[in-house]
Amino acid sequence: MKVFVAGCGTMGSGIAQVFASFGHETIMFDREADLVDRGYALIEKQVRRQLDKGRLTQEEAEALLANLKRSTDLDEAKGADLVIEAIFEDLETKRDLFGKLDKLCHPDCLFATNTSSLSISKIAQGQDHESRLAGMHFFNPAPVMKLVEVIRGAKTSDTAIDRIADVVRAIGKEPVLCQESPGFIVNRLLIPMINEAVDLLARGVASRDDIDQAMRLGANHPMGPLQLADFIGIDIVRNIMEIIQEGTKDPKYQPSPLLDRMVKDGKLGRKSGEGFYKY
Ligand SMILES: NC(=O)c1ccc[n+]([C@@H]2O[C@H](COP(=O)([O-])OP(=O)(O)OC[C@H]3O[C@@H](n4cnc5c(N)ncnc54)[C@H](O)[C@@H]3O)[C@@H](O)[C@H]2O)c1
Repeated sequence: MKVFVAGCGTMGSGIAQVFASFGHETIMFDREADLVDRGYALIEKQVRRQLDKGRLTQEEAEALLANLKRSTDLDEAKGADLVIEAIFEDLETKRDLFGKLDKLCHPDCLFATNTSSLSISKIAQGQDHESRLAGMHFFNPAPVMKLVEVIRGAKTSDTAIDRIADVVRAIGKEPVLCQESPGFIVNRLLIPMINEAVDLLARGVASRDDIDQAMRLGANHPMGPLQLADFIGIDIVRNIMEIIQEGTKDPKYQPSPLLDRMVKDGKLGRKSGEGFYKY
């Protein structure tokens, strides 16, 4: 396949790495050359690490990197079989990009968005390829995480869903199918669970360590919910709760006031040096 990945940030570079490692010609596209190069450098670093650990041979590493092409020219999408968009989480920015791609790509090209929270239907609305656009929600880090949520918009065709699910299997990952809905499956279950843990802590029902220990040993989670919140980012957790609350209009998804306070205090988790734990 020829795969065009738009956006070379955290997700785009990881997604490009996955496709290149499975032998697909992969175009890495971003707004400026240095942004594309930054994404490519992230992949090079990962590949070097895999080489050092003996998980890749020299030949495999070279083949992977040779499958990557860097570009700031949208015209490169012309011959693509699949476009995956991993640009900023902004509806108009995504609609604008897909609008341009609509006119460039051949009529059989599949379009996928890696959006975490936006409506697939709104992204696709009014475009010629509406029926060929679906959500393809990778998890971070994309080369490691096995799951891809495949999200159906109002007009996404069965054929597009089937083809995207096949692509997911062909890159060694597992698809799960989901109608578009706030938080899809994983975030809808995971983030409210974390919010409950924060609420238990805020109400003094149990200590931080006991809450995390309880879920590690009692539910076999590899990491406690408060530790996981630090890992994800406290601001991101609160933001996803807001998205679920807005989307469902259900007050049960109200973010815990403790999350608000932590964001105000700059306690964002690992990335800021302090969240529920200190780093
Ligand atoms: N980070 C995560 O854990 C995660 C997980 C799943 C899904 N997502 C989703 O993936 C998408 C990307 O997230 P990210 O964390 O990789 O963001 P990021 O900020 O790391 O990267 C976004 C990249 O897109 C580029 N970009 C922005 N507008 C563009 C345009 N018009 N044309 C080309 N390139 C453009 C930016 O220059 C940047 O390099 C978002 O929709 C996000 O919601 C993120």
